[in-house]
Amino acid sequence: MARIDLKNLSIHFGGFKAVDDVSLTVNDGEFAVYLGPSGCGKTTTLRAIAGLVSATSGDILFDGKRVNDLRPSERNIAMVFQFVSLYPHLSIAENIIFPLKARGVAKADIARKLDWVTGIFKLGDDLRRYPSALPPGARQKVALARAVIREPAALLLDEPLSAIDEQFREEMRWELGHLQRELGVTTIYVTHDQREAMSLADRIVLMNHSKIVQVAKPDTIFFQPSSVFAGQFIGSPSMNLIDLVPVSGGFRLGASEVVLTHAELPEAVIRNPRALKLGVRPRDVRLVSGAGHPLPVVDVFSVGREKYFAFRIGDTIHQGFDTLTDSTPGGVVFAPDGLMFFDAETGMRLETGRIAA
Ligand SMILES: Nc1ncnc2c1ncn2[C@@H]1O[C@H](COP(=O)(O)OP(=O)(O)O)[C@@H](O)[C@H]1O
Ligand SMILES: [Mg+2]
Repeated sequence: MARIDLKNLSIHFGGFKAVDDVSLTVNDGEFAVYLGPSGCGKTTTLRAIAGLVSATSGDILFDGKRVNDLRPSERNIAMVFQFVSLYPHLSIAENIIFPLKARGVAKADIARKLDWVTGIFKLGDDLRRYPSALPPGARQKVALARAVIREPAALLLDEPLSAIDEQFREEMRWELGHLQRELGVTTIYVTHDQREAMSLADRIVLMNHSKIVQVAKPDTIFFQPSSVFAGQFIGSPSMNLIDLVPVSGGFRLGASEVVLTHAELPEAVIRNPRALKLGVRPRDVRLVSGAGHPLPVVDVFSVGREKYFAFRIGDTIHQGFDTLTDSTPGGVVFAPDGLMFFDAETGMRLETGRIAA
């Protein structure tokens, strides 16, 4: 087990900065999830930690010791990728113990450790089978077992579930979270899937354009996103973003005639009136009945008890989500404690305190 520190880590490929001045501490035993859109530098960061790509500048430390110059094999790190490669001609048991055999670990120790991971991963029935006999999700579990059997200082997982079909992926996600806690191994998990990140992470490391944009617990990043990007990347359906135009006495909502008055707004918003963006999550939009509403509902469809709907502000369509089975809805209102305010120019959120859950 180890603490991992990245200090001003940059990785350049020619003139391109794939990782740009990233600093981060992952604590001993922590489950950190690197989240961000494709191409933002997640895999490159992970490969640098494993020693598969060199840092252009900055330091990587394990338990306070600089490892930049250590070869991958000297770092005691295990990495599992999206597509696992098990040895097809070896049984599951032989696959799992392969890294121990390669290191010449004593037979009795190998047997004991195989028992240990077999128990944790519940692989007992599969040990004598061959990889081709297992579904992809189970093969991924074998790859994880093989990764942890040598008790690495840290486990690096790069989108390990994304090649597994959806139904089994959900199940594996729960299992993986449970396993990591049971093993207590420092884990860095890379994904572009915000649901995976929200359900697995102790902390989410949100990345965009080669930089870390926010590091926080899942709940914090959801309720207190640092920026428009963070607010919209997390949560589904995505957070609505509405122009707030300063007018006398308040802010007008986009091209509508609705004005949020000073009395309805937090101090941080009215202190310095300027163009802002209002962030409202679909769940914080409420359906109300009545004709001629200034924020009219244009479409509603139901999934069981839930109603997904679209509403209009000027010419722009936004989304809402409610559970009311009320009569015909005419328009929408926003839950006041669900409002988030962002500077229109910088995209950064104005600090107005915690948004209610
Ligand atoms: N070996 C390489 N040479 C040149 N460019 C690379 C190399 N590896 C990654 N990149 C580029 O760096 C960027 C970040 O890649 P990557 O870390 O794989 O992103 P992510 O995992 O977040 O999708 C991408 O634009 C990718 O094309
Ligand atoms: Mg990647």
